[in-house]
Amino acid sequence: MHRIAILTAGGDTPALNATIFGAVERANERRVEVFGILDGFVGLLDPRLPHVPLNPLFSTIPELDPHHGGTLLGGSRAYIGPDDVQIIERIVERLGRLKIEGLLCVGGDGTTNAVQCLAERFPCVLAPKTIDNDLGLNYLEEPNDWSSRPAQASRALEYHKAWSRPEIGLDEIINYATPGFATAVFVVAQGVQRIRTTAEGHRRIAIIEVMGRQTGHLALASAYGQPDLILIPEVPLNLPVLLERVRALYELQKHVVIVVGEAIVDAEGKRLGSASSSVDPAGNVAFSGAAESLRQLLVQSLGDDYFRPVAHTRAESAIFTRKVGHTQRGGCPILFDRFYATQLGGCAFDLLWEGHNLAMSTLQWTPAEGFHLGSFPTNQLRDRCGVIHPRLVHPSFYDPLKLWPSKAGIEYLLPIFSNAVGPEDLEHLRGSLFRPGNLTIPYHSINVDIAKQTRWLDQSQ
Ligand code: F6P
Repeated sequence: MHRIAILTAGGDTPALNATIFGAVERANERRVEVFGILDGFVGLLDPRLPHVPLNPLFSTIPELDPHHGGTLLGGSRAYIGPDDVQIIERIVERLGRLKIEGLLCVGGDGTTNAVQCLAERFPCVLAPKTIDNDLGLNYLEEPNDWSSRPAQASRALEYHKAWSRPEIGLDEIINYATPGFATAVFVVAQGVQRIRTTAEGHRRIAIIEVMGRQTGHLALASAYGQPDLILIPEVPLNLPVLLERVRALYELQKHVVIVVGEAIVDAEGKRLGSASSSVDPAGNVAFSGAAESLRQLLVQSLGDDYFRPVAHTRAESAIFTRKVGHTQRGGCPILFDRFYATQLGGCAFDLLWEGHNLAMSTLQWTPAEGFHLGSFPTNQLRDRCGVIHPRLVHPSFYDPLKLWPSKAGIEYLLPIFSNAVGPEDLEHLRGSLFRPGNLTIPYHSINVDIAKQTRWLDQSQ
């Protein structure tokens, strides 16, 4: 193998450059050239195949910095599907003209689906990423627990999960944590702590919405910021239980902080906010308004008279919402993500080098070994209809009465976060934010440097 390509697809995470870095460093050892394809699958679809040599003379370009969030290659949510036969043919031809012998995609479930179509014609491997922490399985047979039925309102299929396993061993999880998750939790937990003191001072109820789509891993791990209550999308809202907990907390401490996953559902399983129509082959949709809908429910249920004596204001102003938003996906990755994303990138390169196709590097954990690398055939993520589903929070990880991670949930989180932040992370904060030069030197974007190094198909042979 002499030359491979790498791309980043789907939503970004702070750890993408670290994964690319790990793959390129390993390629240097093997004296394999790595070309970075720009803008994810959009780059593959472009007849000129825009790309950047990432290791000329087997030395990593300085712009590839594992500490820098985002992706120096750019990303997109464009994908290819099984029906794009001619498009796939053209992509394979272009990659062939560039003498690319394998493709390493850094992505989540949408990318895994897209890669499937290409892999029939071209060796492809995956390095995982997603702040949602939902690429993988809780246990090996989990895909068999999914079934489908036609949706009531449309012709689309609705998927239903029956949990065949009331408990799981942590060493059974395929992909214990995906790169980007730990940093997103770091941001969320800080956000919760900061909202806390302002809600406390003004006797208010704060509802903080976090990302994660249909999965509640980010919401669950927000427990590190010590909100009072956590609602995850996997468990339908139990309004009486929530109101009882809110009242008890408000009476005791004159304020409440609630974290909600962006796709929480009511008792009938209906989303509290709204969801856009499908945006990619993984069926990913964009959610909005969950926190606001919950706020309306609390305003109606508690009423103005409830708040007047304590907050001296109406329910409308005593209850506020905040979205942590895209700060969850940005900035410098913390130590856990930097380290394991780099390892997973290197491991994915090795999979390609060893001749695997449609395999994914994974991060495994056992009590005896701690974290270690593994690999997994991506087709084993598929259910009986061939669909890859997000890894949901296992029911045993959440206590639906306390609205908090259960004992098993806490045991799951501890290995990831106990040493997730390193001294370098604190040094980065100290050295980068209030640097006097920030006031006089404009931000220099990596995109400017990459644009200068971009090559096109016919310039590269
Ligand atoms: O899948 C990652 C994710 O950050 C989700 O948590 C979130 O719902 C979505 O992407 C947001 O996507 P976009 O950046 O396209 O708005």
